[in-house]
Amino acid sequence: MDKKIDKIKKYIKYFHIKTSDDLNSFRGKLLGKKKGIITILFKELKDISIYKRKNYGIIINELKKEVQKKIFHYKSKNNIQNEKILKYDPTIPGKSIELGSIHPLSIMKNRIIDIFLKIGFTYVDGPEIEDDWHNFTALNIPIYHPSRDMQDTFFLYKNPDILLRTHTSSIQIRYMKKYSPPFRVLSIGKVYRNETISSHSNFMFHQAEGFYIDKKVSFSDLKQTVHYLITSLFGKAKIRFRPSYFPFTEPSAEVDISYNNKWLEIMGCGMIDPEVLKNVNIDPEIYYGFAFGLGIERLTLMIYHMKDIRIYFDNDIRFLKQFKYEF
Ligand code: DAH
Repeated sequence: MDKKIDKIKKYIKYFHIKTSDDLNSFRGKLLGKKKGIITILFKELKDISIYKRKNYGIIINELKKEVQKKIFHYKSKNNIQNEKILKYDPTIPGKSIELGSIHPLSIMKNRIIDIFLKIGFTYVDGPEIEDDWHNFTALNIPIYHPSRDMQDTFFLYKNPDILLRTHTSSIQIRYMKKYSPPFRVLSIGKVYRNETISSHSNFMFHQAEGFYIDKKVSFSDLKQTVHYLITSLFGKAKIRFRPSYFPFTEPSAEVDISYNNKWLEIMGCGMIDPEVLKNVNIDPEIYYGFAFGLGIERLTLMIYHMKDIRIYFDNDIRFLKQFKYEF
């Protein structure tokens, strides 16, 4: 090996480059992609014992540098520029960078966050992969309870059950377990349900979840907050609270908005059930809270007067280009 390297060294040293043909054959012989002598030495490195490999690596690299030096020397003496640079044509028009736009659901998300930050809410995120306790049990939805069927679930593992969260209410549990009240919290994110027949016609949609816990929170605070949200989004709008059932709130209500002379359901809400507070070690004798959850897709549809909810995820650039968020 040493002899071989000496031979190559000498060859490099004494080779005289007189023409560009010489240059090419010199470069090809030593650094050619397949048959270059130095290229082959590099490839053979892996067969050399691990102790010698590093040293040889350095030596071969030096050979390569010698070759490059010689080539560079010849080129600069003869005023030959790099071929790549020669190909550069300054008259070709540049590539234009197209300005992107923000997805309508993200615009809506940002608007809702802005609205709630103004009234002292904190924005938090939570995981999309949840365990059974955070998604169901702690929210007062025990196993075998029929209300589990309201949300057809995608399970990733069984026993222990790990699933794609079916609603953002799991974030309530995560937050309440970690911090002590009072707090006002908003979260927005993707949720997953196996619902091919629902109006979402999709296995994924977005929800906003809000909750407020303090010593004197009442249903009228909830009503006022919902009213504030809806008027901030729509200007004047007619809404109604309709009694409903959710395992994690008592009393519970659904909120409908008058749209095209029809009542459209937009959110669920209620006073947080004392059982839920107990599950996260908050004393329901001292603290009260309200919570709400709303679907982002439908709300966005109404604001932009769109007809079909599936359009959000078609990735049609003609649709997506139309949206701008005014900051
Ligand atoms: N988690 C409910 C759902 O996905 C929505 C909801 C209803 C959230 C009432 C709440 C609430 O926080 O209080 O259907």
